[in-house]
Amino acid sequence: MGSEPEVMRDKAAMRLWSRSRRSQGKTVALVPTMGFLHDGHLALIRTAHPLADLTVVSIYVNPGQFAPSEDFSTYPSDLTGDLKKLADLGIVHAVFCPSNLYDYEGGFSEMSTADRVSSAVSCIEAEDDGSGHETWIRVEKLERGLCGKSRPVFFRGVATVVAKLFNIVEPDVAIFGKKDYQQWRVICRMVRDLDYAIKIVGSEIVRESDGLAMSSRNVRLSPEERVKALSIYNSMSKAKYTALHEQTTCQEIKDIVIQMVDKAGGRIDCVEVVEQESLVAVEDIRTPVVICVAAWFGKVRLIDNMEINPCGI
Ligand code: PAJ
Repeated sequence: MGSEPEVMRDKAAMRLWSRSRRSQGKTVALVPTMGFLHDGHLALIRTAHPLADLTVVSIYVNPGQFAPSEDFSTYPSDLTGDLKKLADLGIVHAVFCPSNLYDYEGGFSEMSTADRVSSAVSCIEAEDDGSGHETWIRVEKLERGLCGKSRPVFFRGVATVVAKLFNIVEPDVAIFGKKDYQQWRVICRMVRDLDYAIKIVGSEIVRESDGLAMSSRNVRLSPEERVKALSIYNSMSKAKYTALHEQTTCQEIKDIVIQMVDKAGGRIDCVEVVEQESLVAVEDIRTPVVICVAAWFGKVRLIDNMEINPCGI
């Protein structure tokens, strides 16, 4: 392709763009992101490219998935840099970067970043006049385990914003990274349960050369924390090797991760070995499972996971 993507800043323009292409018989792939794009995001776009005629990337830091104590207002962003990366990639047809997806009146596009942050949050919170956003999608069982325990509003926020993006962009296929394993599974279940005619594709985790999973949050790690954070990948690799070569219980597998991350100076939030589709915790590794880890390094919470397919399946 090689040309610049069209940039859409509001819902109506995005919907019109997509509808007109679809009426010409074109298929559309959507890659939802929160921006500050890295090679992990770009890999998703490369996965999307052969799956549809047109590729749309959305960039939107969704206030609905951050709890008040979380890093919404400090979440890194660089729209100019992101647009350049997407143009250089040469395979993106449209970028959807709305300023506030919870604005039902219009009028947010000219605001400063700080005003937009507080406006977006107040659009979501129940307002005295009752005009706030009040419809949420819950994928009830899948959202409760793993990260859902320490982030109770996270998956309802993700499911809701992704449903909004699906309704605006109306894609045929959408790509999600397996880096956020539970998120990918939650979206698959939502699409099945709500009869969205959208194919969901899970794309493999992209890592730095030393194994750290790429994440927009990695830039917030100090050089020391960056070294410590590698313990997640190293401990999961050791746990996986042990699971595939020795008779072990899941508790022993989890202990390997807990001890190595702890020794490196990280603070474990959650380690679970769960069945790949249902995300139900298992005690022994007889079926395909995934080790999921969330850990804090300083003020940064990182997540990662590794699939274990016994007998090479
Ligand atoms: P964000 O963290 O920006 O991630 C956007 C997509 O990129 C997600 O599907 C995520 O799993 C994928 N991704 C991130 N790092 C990756 C890596 N190292 N390897 C492979 N894929 C990677 O996830 C979100 O945004 C939001 O929750 C969103 C789905 C956009 C809803 O707001």
